[in-house]
Amino acid sequence: MHHRIGFVVGAVTFSMSVLVSPALADPSTLVRNDHEPIEVRRVHQNAATPPQQTAPTRPLIAVSHRGAAGTAPENTLAAIDEGHRLGAETVEIDVQLTSDEEIVVMHDTTLERTTDVAEVFPDRAPYDVGDFTMEEIGRLDAGSSFDDEFAGEPVPTLREALDRLEELDMNLLLEVKEPSLYPGIEHQVSVELARSPHWLMPNAPGEPHRLVIQSFDWESTEHSKSLLPSVPHGLLGLVPKDEIADHDWAHMINPNHTSIDADYVAAVQDAGLEIMPYTINEADGMRRVLEMGVDGFITDFPETGRRAIDEFLEGRTDPVSDPGSEESGESVELVS
Ligand code: G3P
Ligand code: CA
Repeated sequence: MHHRIGFVVGAVTFSMSVLVSPALADPSTLVRNDHEPIEVRRVHQNAATPPQQTAPTRPLIAVSHRGAAGTAPENTLAAIDEGHRLGAETVEIDVQLTSDEEIVVMHDTTLERTTDVAEVFPDRAPYDVGDFTMEEIGRLDAGSSFDDEFAGEPVPTLREALDRLEELDMNLLLEVKEPSLYPGIEHQVSVELARSPHWLMPNAPGEPHRLVIQSFDWESTEHSKSLLPSVPHGLLGLVPKDEIADHDWAHMINPNHTSIDADYVAAVQDAGLEIMPYTINEADGMRRVLEMGVDGFITDFPETGRRAIDEFLEGRTDPVSDPGSEESGESVELVS
């Protein structure tokens, strides 16, 4: 497997004491991709002796997509809870802006597919997210369209999702959806994140990232990176191999899993970036990208993902359950 360039850590204890400094409430005191405070970098640069310890590689992770969209209504607090119940360490959610500039957790740019907006506001088609206030969206049911069991589940704000994730000690892959529709959303997101010091502090080396911000809109993502320089950012989609080096401010490239091969994975990692393809819901697809050497992948079924990773790491080839098996008990053979 190709490994990204690890940042060298000589004094973990010192690093952690700096990380809890109140100064970290100001994003400008933080450095970029390695997610370490600038004070630590200066100490390393001036040290008379070489650093003693290389930062451990982060673990392979199965990122739980839209909360845990396979078994709960996508992008709801119930889905975040479900991801936690299924053992996910990191969840992915999508955010957009309401008409009153609240950051709302929602995938589609219209409210119709996942909520009862057409019943509650019958004369407001085409139900664009940006045409509704957060108070109006708060009246919608985002659970029934998935299953009656979740009837009444509300559409959360980003603030509510952040609080729930922090409470559950989970990490976040935050997708800013269609930012060109919402001028200023990068700033709004940075303000919301900066309200809680928790989200601007890194996890310990060797743990998954606490927070990564990503988008299919790479210009918006670069702008977000300039506002939150300490936070790792990811590019969604397939960056052409010969353009990867142009995005050295980014930390990740996360393409559709059907668009990559082992050479592409190596090209991303050789450039010092991580790669976590989306959205893989079958065990053989998970195994396929793991064999390519990815740093993780995004799935609606984190329990299946965790099992595929464990079996990959153990070098096993015995059966792993497919998504349906979480309820049905069926299983499929992994393709080696
Ligand atoms: O995290 C990547 C993935 O979520 C992108 O696809 O359409 O599910 O947002 P989509
Ligand atoms: Ca997404």
